[in-house]
Amino acid sequence: MNAAPPVRLVSVEGLCKVYPTRHGAVKALDDISFQIAPGETLALVGESGCGKSTLASALLGLVKFDLGTIEIGGNVVTAHLHGTTMPPRRDVGVVFQNPHSSLDPRMKVRSIVGEPLSGILGMRREAVTRRAGELLSQVGLGADYLNRYPHQLSGGQMQRVAIARALALEPQLLVLDEPTAALDVSVQAQILKLLKALQAKSNVSYLFITHDLGVVDYIAHRVAVMYLGRIVESGSVAEVFADPRHPYTRALLDAVPVIDPRRRRQSPPLDGEVPSPLNRLPGCAFAPRCLRATAECRAVPPELYEEEPGERAYACFHPCYTLSKSPQ
Ligand SMILES: Nc1ncnc2c1ncn2[C@@H]1O[C@H](COP(=O)(O)OP(=O)(O)OP(=O)(O)O)[C@@H](O)[C@H]1O
Ligand SMILES: [Mg+2]
Repeated sequence: MNAAPPVRLVSVEGLCKVYPTRHGAVKALDDISFQIAPGETLALVGESGCGKSTLASALLGLVKFDLGTIEIGGNVVTAHLHGTTMPPRRDVGVVFQNPHSSLDPRMKVRSIVGEPLSGILGMRREAVTRRAGELLSQVGLGADYLNRYPHQLSGGQMQRVAIARALALEPQLLVLDEPTAALDVSVQAQILKLLKALQAKSNVSYLFITHDLGVVDYIAHRVAVMYLGRIVESGSVAEVFADPRHPYTRALLDAVPVIDPRRRRQSPPLDGEVPSPLNRLPGCAFAPRCLRATAECRAVPPELYEEEPGERAYACFHPCYTLSKSPQ
């Protein structure tokens, strides 16, 4: 008997996005493919400028992409279908890093959370207030917050309001673009805990963008590591963090400060700048910073290779192995 195929909520295939700029074309997304299952959190990590927010915007229908398809809950968007206007995606919610700029300072919390309910669902005022109160209670805020303005809230409370708003239309997917990066560590922990609890209750999926690998470890089931517009490694967090294959993933993990002095670094610190996305070199984009790079790496871009179908994947001709597994 054949096993049932894994259920996918999100399936992205061959996504490419180029920004034309005065200085030339910036390839922000270069053949990106991944899946997210219902109730799963995929973390997206990588240095500044590698294309994380562009990918988030493409999923939200906020930027047009040039090639590829995005399927969310059976609803497929292909590159060539994108006209000048895109339909708003109701099935995807979003929370950005900075609630100070994402929440309208002139609106009360009631309107911020209730706007999608009245604007898109056409709910009436009393129903909106009732539902907004319920949404606030889901994120741990009392109904008395309905009458407050954003400036009367702390950073953590603002982010709770942003999450309540993102959940208003009961999306199947929430895109979280560094949602805790601007918060104090203790508040960050509370928000992460809340997000986990919300997921356990509703089975919503998360695409969670962060620079913080500690956050990935806590919140995510799977992780995709991006470098200059490409996914260079992906897999379960447990597997990738315990035994990274790509030298870039290894360098990112080694850059995390550890309290335990017995844990030795496996590779030297990540040196040098990310190469310019304008002058792409022919081979692996990481080769100029990689100690394992050979002539082959500098000439040919490595494809993403799956160890097992649907399992961890990496794009490297000279992957790292722990000593016990080393084939050499
Ligand atoms: N509207 C735009 N026009 C031109 N180039 C852009 C635009 N938006 C992003 N880019 C470029 O695309 C690349 C990817 O940017 P993006 O914002 O997606 O990166 P990121 O991984 O989210 O970075 P960060 O971690 O700093 O938020 C960068 O080189 C950036 O300069
Ligand atoms: Mg970004």
